[in-house]
Amino acid sequence: MQPDEIARIHEEALAEAREADSADALEAVRLKYLSRKGLVQDIMASLKTAAPADRPAIGQAANRLRAELLDAVNRRREKLAEAAETSGPAFDITLPGRWPGLGSIHPVSGMIAQCADIFRSMGFTVADGPDIETAFHNFDALNHPPGHPARDPRDTFYLEDGTLLRTHTSPVQVRYMQAHPPPVRIIAPGRTYRRDTPDATHSSNFHQIEGLYVADRVSLADLKGDLTYFASQLLGARVQVRFRPHFFPFTEPSVEVDFSCHVCGGQGCRVCKQSGWIEIGGAGMVDPNVYTAVGYDPEAVTGYAFGLGVERMAMIFHGIPDIRLLYENDVRFLAQF
Ligand code: PHE
Repeated sequence: MQPDEIARIHEEALAEAREADSADALEAVRLKYLSRKGLVQDIMASLKTAAPADRPAIGQAANRLRAELLDAVNRRREKLAEAAETSGPAFDITLPGRWPGLGSIHPVSGMIAQCADIFRSMGFTVADGPDIETAFHNFDALNHPPGHPARDPRDTFYLEDGTLLRTHTSPVQVRYMQAHPPPVRIIAPGRTYRRDTPDATHSSNFHQIEGLYVADRVSLADLKGDLTYFASQLLGARVQVRFRPHFFPFTEPSVEVDFSCHVCGGQGCRVCKQSGWIEIGGAGMVDPNVYTAVGYDPEAVTGYAFGLGVERMAMIFHGIPDIRLLYENDVRFLAQF
C-alpha cells in the first residue's frame, strides 16, 4: 500500500471516529479499522509485498494510525457517555420519592435474639465458637468413641484437612470450659451442619442454641425447671414441657425435650404431625468424661447441658409448617415477621 493511500485512510478513520453519533456507530468504526480483519491489519499485510525500502515507512504509518485512532475512539466514547448522562427528560423534583421498603429481621435471627434475652434474664451469658471445628472439639472431647456413627462422612461434612463443619453447637461447651474455670453458665447460639436430606423438618444447615451450666450442685431438677421456665417465657404459661429418656455420649442421664405444640395448643395439627408435641432438642447432665477432657475435676463439679433447635422453635412460635420456607428468602414470606 502506498504512503499516500495510508494517509487518506488515516484521515478518514479519524473523521469517522469524531463523527460517530452513537456507541454502536463508534464500535462499527473501531471494528472497521482496528479488528483482526480491519484496514490497519490490511496495511500490515501489505508489508509482505512492499519493496523492502518502503517497509519501515509503511509500518510506522500503520502504527501511528492505530494509536491515534484508538485515542480518538476512546475520547469519542467518553463524550457520548457524558452526553447520554446529561440528556433525557428533566428531573421532576415534585414527584414523590420511591419507598424502597423496610426490611425485617429474619425469623431465625429473631428467635435467637428472643431466646438470648430470656436466658440472659436467667443469668446466662452468650458465648460462641467456630463453625469449622476439629474432630477433638466436635466428637472426642464430647465422649464419642472412635467408631461412633455420627463421625461417618455420610453424616458429617469433612474438609480436606480433616477439620469438619460442626454437627452441633456442643463443641462450644468444650472450648468454653477449656478457657474458663467453673462455675460457668452460658448459651451459645450458632449454625450447625449435617448431611441430612432436606424435608419439612430437616435442613443440612440449621441453628442450635447450646446451653451449659456447671457449678458445684447443679441437678437434673435444675435442668427441668430452667427449661420449663424458659419455655413459659417464650411461649406463654400454658406451654407444656416433656422430657423423654434418651442417649447422648456427652450427657448422663440424657433426655429429649418436647414442647407442647403452640400452633394447635396440643390438639394435633400439621405442624406437630398430629402428635400435639414438638421435639425441640436434647439435654442432660454433663458426663464426667467431658469434664476430664476439658481439664475440670469430675469429682468437684456437676452441671447440665442442652441443645435447642432454633428453626423448630421459630416454626412453632410463628406457625410455620415447613423449615424450607425459612431458607427460600422469599421477601413476601419474610416480610410477615
Ligand atoms: N448436641 C446434641 C445434638 O445436637 C444436643 C444436646 C446438647 C444434647 C447438649 C445434650 C446436651 O443433638
